[in-house]
Amino acid sequence: MIKVDLSKLAGFIPDDYVAARQEKLAQAAEMLAKHNGPGGDYTGWVALPRDYDREEFARIQAAAEKIRKQSQVLVVIGIGGSYLGARAVVELLTSPNYNLLKKDTPDIYFAGNGLSTDALQELLEIIGDRDFSVNVISKSGTTTEPAVAFRIFKGLLEKKYGKEGARERIYATTDKARGALKGLADAEGYEEFVVPDDVGGRYSVLTAVGLLPIACAGIDIVKLMAGARQAMDELSAGGPENPAWQYAAARHAVYQSGKKVELLACYEPRFRFFAEWWKQLYGESEGKDGKGLFPASVEYNADLHSMGQYIQEGERMLLETVVSFAPKNEYIIPDDAANADGLNFLSGKPLSFVAEKAMRGVILAHVDGGVPNVLLQLPPISETSVGYLIYFFEYVCGLSGYLLEVNPFNQPGVEAYKKNMFALLGKPGYEDMKAALEARL
Ligand code: PA5
Repeated sequence: MIKVDLSKLAGFIPDDYVAARQEKLAQAAEMLAKHNGPGGDYTGWVALPRDYDREEFARIQAAAEKIRKQSQVLVVIGIGGSYLGARAVVELLTSPNYNLLKKDTPDIYFAGNGLSTDALQELLEIIGDRDFSVNVISKSGTTTEPAVAFRIFKGLLEKKYGKEGARERIYATTDKARGALKGLADAEGYEEFVVPDDVGGRYSVLTAVGLLPIACAGIDIVKLMAGARQAMDELSAGGPENPAWQYAAARHAVYQSGKKVELLACYEPRFRFFAEWWKQLYGESEGKDGKGLFPASVEYNADLHSMGQYIQEGERMLLETVVSFAPKNEYIIPDDAANADGLNFLSGKPLSFVAEKAMRGVILAHVDGGVPNVLLQLPPISETSVGYLIYFFEYVCGLSGYLLEVNPFNQPGVEAYKKNMFALLGKPGYEDMKAALEARL
């Protein structure tokens, strides 16, 4: 389903970059398949499109149906891997303006991914007196930002509907056995969904973490899983023709050649949050031990007129990866008798033709400016192609982490800020640290 065009890497890295990494790629693929590499306990996502829990999947579909019937708004509470995937897929498959569309599915808002009072108050005003439900998502069940938001929304639901009514509107997605959220959900009798033990947050979009909000938006999650399954089947056959092997090898070779940043570019505005999901996936997986390409993103054509100058002529530290979906619809550019803009040479041509030429021109300009390019080409945006792309990026990320010789499935660096925050907030047990930090403020 995916076509990986690596022709614009020529001259930037040695021609044999895949062959030179063949042995390490084979080892990486085997470690992913056998779950025995670094972080192997968190590689449950590798076989997820085949082995997912069918009983829970049916409950997700039923819960989504219930939420659609009982609520005009769904508030999804989570941070990092516990919200980015859902938002990415909802926006890519519907619209970044999903909440403004005419639809028979609830508006969906994401909360608990920050601590802004303004953002919270704005959301409360937007919800107003509409009926709403909450899906609180936290694998650890102890993350501060979503826990604070849930405390607030739980209180609001109980005030509005009573304890019984609130119970019918709260859905908790968390660990099957551990954590404060699990304890709370058990005690209160909320409907629960599980973040599997062997799937980390940033790889969890195809579990209940992503699937429940996605299904609430009316997206066909059966097709989404089918796309991921197709990717799983196609990419598990290793070898130099495997597009995941090629892309992982290319990223590694470009990094070793001295590039520091991978810029993910797309010409679809609805891709923006998918890029946010991708940034977390690669940033948390590779950025450790002083290594890793820094994942960044741009939205073309708009960013050609803001970031384009730097990309063309700034520090030569970039790899550009472009995601291109085939167009789904056509819009024909009209003729204009006056031709005041001089654009009649485009009259009668589809807008997508202009977009394609613009993309090709940009790639060549950037390559000429010293930015190697990878082009990922996909069929039109659909549940199937998006499911495929999710799995493709996850699989390449696993391979890439092993090529880089890091554990792509932990995130020890995320703990540092949490400890400081707990200490400064006066959480019991952090007293010594509090004093030391306050002395430095
Ligand atoms: O990928 C990850 O593991 C993290 O980004 C987590 O998803 C994030 O920190 C939220 O954690 P939790 O789901 O435990 O609240």
